[in-house]
Amino acid sequence: MHTVLVTGAAGGIGSRLRKLMKGQYPSIRWSDLKIPVDLAPDETFVKADLSVVHEVEQIVQGVQGIVHLGGFSVEGAWETILNANIIGCYNLFEAARRAKVERIVFASSNHAVGFYPRQRKIGTDSPVRPDSRYGVSKAFGEALGALYAYKHGLRVTCLRIGNVAETPVDKRRLSLWISPEDLLQLIRIGLEHPNIRHEIFFGASDNVRSFWDNEAAFRYGYRPTGRAEDHAAAALAANAKLAPDPVSDWYQGGPFCSDEFDGGIERSPT
Ligand SMILES: NC(=O)c1ccc[n+]([C@@H]2O[C@H](COP(=O)([O-])OP(=O)(O)OC[C@H]3O[C@@H](n4cnc5c(N)ncnc54)[C@H](O)[C@@H]3O)[C@@H](O)[C@H]2O)c1
Repeated sequence: MHTVLVTGAAGGIGSRLRKLMKGQYPSIRWSDLKIPVDLAPDETFVKADLSVVHEVEQIVQGVQGIVHLGGFSVEGAWETILNANIIGCYNLFEAARRAKVERIVFASSNHAVGFYPRQRKIGTDSPVRPDSRYGVSKAFGEALGALYAYKHGLRVTCLRIGNVAETPVDKRRLSLWISPEDLLQLIRIGLEHPNIRHEIFFGASDNVRSFWDNEAAFRYGYRPTGRAEDHAAAALAANAKLAPDPVSDWYQGGPFCSDEFDGGIERSPT
């Protein structure tokens, strides 16, 4: 893996990775719609809009691996999700195929499966249950990854990221928090492990309250070092200040589930 492209370089995760990935690959190309405010002179940055085909074609040239973080990272209007996450993701995979890129690590999300109840532990083989248009776009990205892996031979790793932060900030995040260092560990498995074809891993640290069985990631050697429970007291104290929300509190996807919800919780699946 000589040259790695990382999209979404100006975002929250991209900004953290720009520090953590320094020196880990011979060449890293960072890209985003926006120029990162703290771009260092020794960083290579190429501005590109993922929804514009020829701009995406330029950024993938000469790279062997891509970490695809770029996109709209919360719920949004259909047009916004369509352009950034659906058309943008398609452009990225298709340009990568044509440029003979070997591997893609796709930043999927827990919101692809947000409508599972918190009391239920799921694996990556559970069918998707998106909790938002955003979650649907992540399920789309995972499916696109499978198409490009099985039909075109790319090696694709989809990370259903929980919440990347220094510490978990509330009760829900005690279950789905991931430290930036553990996220990088998963990204490196996606970029380097010889047996990857199309894999879905949960992006979570070593959390005793996890909603997820991350066996697939462990089989590839993932050994998380972050432990959400070490921060439980502070997270639960912060949680006590939140207003109760029966839909959000019931489902793994939290507020993404209660947003626009009019389904009747008594009729919702368990
Ligand atoms: N932060 C988390 O905890 C978390 C959890 C689950 C999934 N994710 C996913 O991980 C990725 C990164 O998350 P983040 O928190 O850094 O998000 P972010 O919103 O901070 O960053 C996303 C970046 O993508 C860029 N972008 C948006 N539309 C674009 C376009 N059309 N062309 C090029 N760039 C575009 C934005 O400019 C932004 O810098 C996202 O795909 C997000 O959905 C993040």
